[in-house]
Amino acid sequence: MSSNPHPRSFIDVTHYSENSRQNGKFSRPHSYLMQSPRIEIASDGPEFSRIVLGLWRIANWNMSPAQRLSLVEQALELGITTIDHADIYGDYDGERLFGEALALAPALREKMEIISKCGIRLLSANRPAHRLKHYDTGREHIIASVENTLTALHVEYLDLLLIHRPDPLMDADEVAEAFTALRRDGKVRHLGVSNFTPAQFELLASRVPLMTNQVELSVMHMDAMYDGTLDQCQRLRIAPMAWSALAGGRLFDDKDPRAERLRKALTSIAERHGVSMTTIAYAWILRHPSRPLVLTGSQRIEAMEEAVAATGLTLAREEWYSIWTASTGTSVL
Ligand SMILES: NC(=O)c1ccc[n+]([C@@H]2O[C@H](COP(=O)([O-])OP(=O)(O)OC[C@H]3O[C@@H](n4cnc5c(N)ncnc54)[C@H](OP(=O)(O)O)[C@@H]3O)[C@@H](O)[C@H]2O)c1
Repeated sequence: MSSNPHPRSFIDVTHYSENSRQNGKFSRPHSYLMQSPRIEIASDGPEFSRIVLGLWRIANWNMSPAQRLSLVEQALELGITTIDHADIYGDYDGERLFGEALALAPALREKMEIISKCGIRLLSANRPAHRLKHYDTGREHIIASVENTLTALHVEYLDLLLIHRPDPLMDADEVAEAFTALRRDGKVRHLGVSNFTPAQFELLASRVPLMTNQVELSVMHMDAMYDGTLDQCQRLRIAPMAWSALAGGRLFDDKDPRAERLRKALTSIAERHGVSMTTIAYAWILRHPSRPLVLTGSQRIEAMEEAVAATGLTLAREEWYSIWTASTGTSVL
């Protein structure tokens, strides 16, 4: 079975997007019509693209600054305007790599929304002062991280700052204080969290408005549906963000029976819709009523197109549950 059949017919409508017609400088003509829709991620929250470009792996891509810029430009053409970073990505070098590309076309900043995260201290040659890997959600660390991030990215502000992981020593008042100072100085517009339990979310949200909880969610990782995370998002009308939506690529190459069952189920539904199994894996997440945003971690524009294609597709309940059944290996009770 081909792991990535990628039929183009679903989006193959020869067409130049509004962006490419306006400035005509993007690197290749596009033959698709679809663009990622946008949603307000919380009441009075920012508007982001439903498909988000995640740059965790950017340092592995061996791209020149011009190639990195071209990838971002092509993502923007697809309506993928929201970009996800963290201070620690690429061993503290990922944001610099992105900033180097953005510096070639600084006007693009206003066409995108930039997310970054802080709160983890890694042992790294790029942070020689760190002596132990640990979490730090103290005021001083949050502010210093954001300052570093803004410098590396070559931008003046972040649209959204996420606290990367829950820290047992987190003092909610201190985080709120740090965010208030950063917002006052025009450095961060909104705050959110990542990998927080509902109780941890509730605690911080009691001090400062939170816009999202970025969590692992895919056909191979459903915990957020059962531990109250997505219920909380739906209740608060806050859109979660799904990371490793393709299980970091394991969906395509894991040899275990679960992955085999999933590929079979996804491919069968994909054939019915004339799209790739990747598109169906994204559509499965997007079907959840909490309105998740989906991160794509690929360096390939074709993979981003497959994610965008999923936004035009609503799985029937039976289709959704057949994927659930393939994942769990059982039927519902
Ligand atoms: N908040 C957190 O704690 C957290 C944790 C992890 C990740 N994240 C965020 O989530 C983003 C996405 O995570 P991820 O990279 O694990 O996501 P992913 O989209 O599940 O995995 C991407 C990986 O799968 C590979 N892949 C293989 N076939 C593919 C296909 N048909 N389509 C797309 N990708 C395919 C990609 O390789 P190619 O590049 O060759 O396509 C890439 O190595 C990260 O960049 C980061 O921004 C957040």
